[in-house]
Amino acid sequence: MTKVAIVTGGTRGIGAAISIGLKEAGYTVAANYAGNDEAATRFKEETGIAVYKWNVGDYDACQASVAKITADLGPVDILVNNAGITRDTTLSKMTKEMWDAVIETNLTSNFNMTKAVWDGMKERRYGRVICISSINGQKGQVGQTNYSAAKAGAIGFIKALAQEGARYNITANAIAPGYVGTDMVRAVPEKVLEKIVGQIPVGRLGEPEEIARAVVFLAAEEAGFVTGSTLTINGGQYIT
Ligand code: CAA
Repeated sequence: MTKVAIVTGGTRGIGAAISIGLKEAGYTVAANYAGNDEAATRFKEETGIAVYKWNVGDYDACQASVAKITADLGPVDILVNNAGITRDTTLSKMTKEMWDAVIETNLTSNFNMTKAVWDGMKERRYGRVICISSINGQKGQVGQTNYSAAKAGAIGFIKALAQEGARYNITANAIAPGYVGTDMVRAVPEKVLEKIVGQIPVGRLGEPEEIARAVVFLAAEEAGFVTGSTLTINGGQYIT
C-alpha cells in the first residue's frame, strides 16, 4: 500500500509544488485548501490529486477532515504543515485580529493537524511531520511580528515533537524557506521586494520546487535519522 500524505495549503504556491513532488515520489496525496475553490478545482484537474477544503485553524475541522481522508485514502503517514497567511504591518498598526489570524493559521494549525494524526502514527510506529517555517522565523522581519513569531514557534514545536516521536519512529522536522516566487511574496510592495532580492546572494527568488525537493527528502523512510532539524533554503540570504 502506498503511503498517504496530507499537505495543508497544498493547492497553491509552495504547497502545490510539495503535493506534486510527493505524488511523483509515489505517495497518495491529499491536498488541503481553505478558500480558493477555483484554484483547487484547477489543481485537481491538472494533477489528479484529491483536494479537501477546511480551515486548519479550526481544531474540530482538522479532526473531522483527517478522519475523512483516512476513510477515503488510508491512514496518514506523512503530514506537511504548510498552510500559511500574512497580515504584514508594523506593530504600531497591527490589530489584535491581524495577530490572531496569523497565529491561528500559521502556528495553532501545527497543533491542530498534528494532534489529528499523531496517535495513529504512534500506533503504527511510523510517521513524518514536516512543518514549513520561514527565514523570517529565524531572523525576524520588519512588518511581521505576528508571522515571525508563528514561524519561530513552528521550529520550537518540531524540536519538542521530535523528542516525543523518536521512540515511535516518527520524525519531526522544519524547513525554513527564504523568499520564493509565490503570490504571497509577490504581494510585498515592489520596491521593498527589489531590496530584499538584492540581499539574496544567489540573486533571485527561490522556486517552489526547490522547497518541495527537501520535503520529499524528509518524507522518505531513508530519512529516519533526521529529526528535530531545521533545513534552511534561502539562497544564502540568512546563514544559520
Ligand atoms: N527597520 C525598522 N523599522 C522600519 C524599517 C527598518 N529597516 N523600515 C521601515 N520601518 C518602519 C518605520 O519605522 C515605520 O514604523 P511605524 O509603523 O511603527 O511608524 C514603518 O516601518 C513605516 O513604513 P512604511 O510607511 O514604509 O510602510 P508601510 O507601513 O506601508 O509598510 C511594511 C511597512 C508592511 C513592513 C512593508 O514595508 C512590507 O510589506 N515589508 C515587507 C515585509 C515582508 O518581507 N514580508 C514577507 C512576506 S512573504 C513571506 O512572509 C514568505 C516568507 O516566509 C519569506
